[in-house]
This record gives sequence, C-alpha cells and structure tokens, in this order.
Amino acid sequence: MSANSKKAENTAPSGIQVRPISGTIGAEISGVDVSQALPDEVIADIRQALLDHLVIFIRDQDITPAQQVAFVSRFGEPDIYPFVKGLDDYPEVTPILKLPDETVNFGGIWHSDTVYQPTPPMGTVLYAKELPPAGGDTLFANQYLAYETLSPPLRAFLDGLTAVNSAAKGASAATRSDRVANSGTGLAAEVMEAEHPVVRTHPETGRKALYVNTGHTVRFSGMTEAESTPILDFLYRHQVKPEFSCRFVWTLGSMVFWDNRCAQHYPVNDYHGHTRLLHRVTLKGDKPV
Ligand code: SIN
Repeated sequence: MSANSKKAENTAPSGIQVRPISGTIGAEISGVDVSQALPDEVIADIRQALLDHLVIFIRDQDITPAQQVAFVSRFGEPDIYPFVKGLDDYPEVTPILKLPDETVNFGGIWHSDTVYQPTPPMGTVLYAKELPPAGGDTLFANQYLAYETLSPPLRAFLDGLTAVNSAAKGASAATRSDRVANSGTGLAAEVMEAEHPVVRTHPETGRKALYVNTGHTVRFSGMTEAESTPILDFLYRHQVKPEFSCRFVWTLGSMVFWDNRCAQHYPVNDYHGHTRLLHRVTLKGDKPV
C-alpha cells in the first residue's frame, strides 16, 4: 500500500473501512452488512463517518424495506415525505422512480431535502433497486466549504439573515410532477413554506454551513425577490463548485446516506428511456439555527 492510499483509507475502531472518494466530500464504507443488527460501535463509526464526510456510500447491500427502515432507525426517527405516497406496508419508504417514458427525474435540481418544512430532515438514505445501464449518478456538494470560502464581508452579511423556502418553487415542483400525478398524497405544494437561517450551525459538529438552495429558496426574509435574486444566484453557483463536490456512480444494492444539514445533492437526469428506482427513507431533523 502506498503512503497516499494508507492516508486515504481509514479503519475505524469497530473495524469498518472508510475511504474518501474526493478531497472535500464523500466516503465509501466497506466491511458492513446493513441487513444485520449491527453493534452499537459500528453504528457510532458510521455516524462519525457521516459527520466527517457529509455523505457516505455503502455498496453491495441486499435488503428489504423492513431492513432499510431498521438500519435507518439506528440513527434517528424516520420521517414521512409529504407529497408522494410511500410503500403500502412501509409509508416511510418513498419510491424514487423514473420510468422509461418520463422526462423529469424526482428532485432533479440542486437542493437539500424539504427545506420548506419547519424541521427539515437531518439525513436521507437511498437504496438502489433498479438502475439504467449508464447514467443516473448523484452529485453532492459540501456546504461548510461553500460558506467558509466566501469573503468575510459577505459571510457577515449572510450570518444575520433568514430566507423563505417554498415547496411551490416552480423548477423544483416540476421535478416531482410525474410522481405526484400517479402516487401523490393530495397535499398542495403551496401550503409548505418555512423560514430558516441562511447560515445554519450544525448541531453535532458546531460548524457553519450555507443553507439556501436553488430548489426551494425564494428570497431573503424582509427583502423582495428582486433584491434577493442577484445574491442568491451568486450563492447557487458558488455552493456547488466542483471543488466542493463529488459524484457517486450507483451500482445495484448501493446505499447512500447524506447529511442534509451540511450537504446538497443533485441527481443527474441523463438516462431517458430507462427505469431508475431507489428506495428513500429520511430522518427527522431539528429546527435549523
Ligand atoms: C432525492 O432528491 O431524494 C433523489 C436523489 C436521487 O435520485 O439520486
């Protein structure tokens, strides 16, 4: 093993391996079978890897919805997605589906999950059930770095602000249109809006992260859309720079767990004519501060 690969791959105290996939976000974990009742030490190491790397990837898993819910429940309380029905027996498991005749992909815009809720989910766990022959990757971006790389005057300006986030923002609402049409819960997007700090402090790491996103953020509180848009547009470009990002190439049985409090994601819509199906479970979060 070279000195570099030694540095990159870390064996955690419980014995699981954690290997970063980029310089700034994302790590693959190996040595774990999430279908099993894992010891507390393994769960603690997975949680630490999530806090350190913001998104973690566990390949080659073979699990049922019940096992996915059981695994996710070791990290908190599963939540219910408001707009699309979950599985009949497991309402907390939402199918993330794109069919061969569809052109939009669910969540196909940079975002952190359901920021229009008063207490958005702390994390999300996806499990790959069916994949296109190529494409359908998911990108992730580190929002600690997005904040830390802004100039001090801009950070000071943003630190004191809150922003309005809406489920009805057009481009984002469009990405759920097919799923809402054939398995929607009937809830109207217009009813979900929440104000949150533009810069939130992560409750576990204590680090500050940029917390606006192009999918849901409408304007800064107390400012008009016309006043907010130029600054927000700059932040949307800045916060997903390749230097803060990684790309995960799915394989069947892959599980991905990201931290919505400090990471954004973007599923790439480049696989028209093919099916892509993942099972998603989110974890309840707290009120951003
Ligand atoms: C989502 O935003 O939950 C979907 C992510 C994906 O399909 O990769």
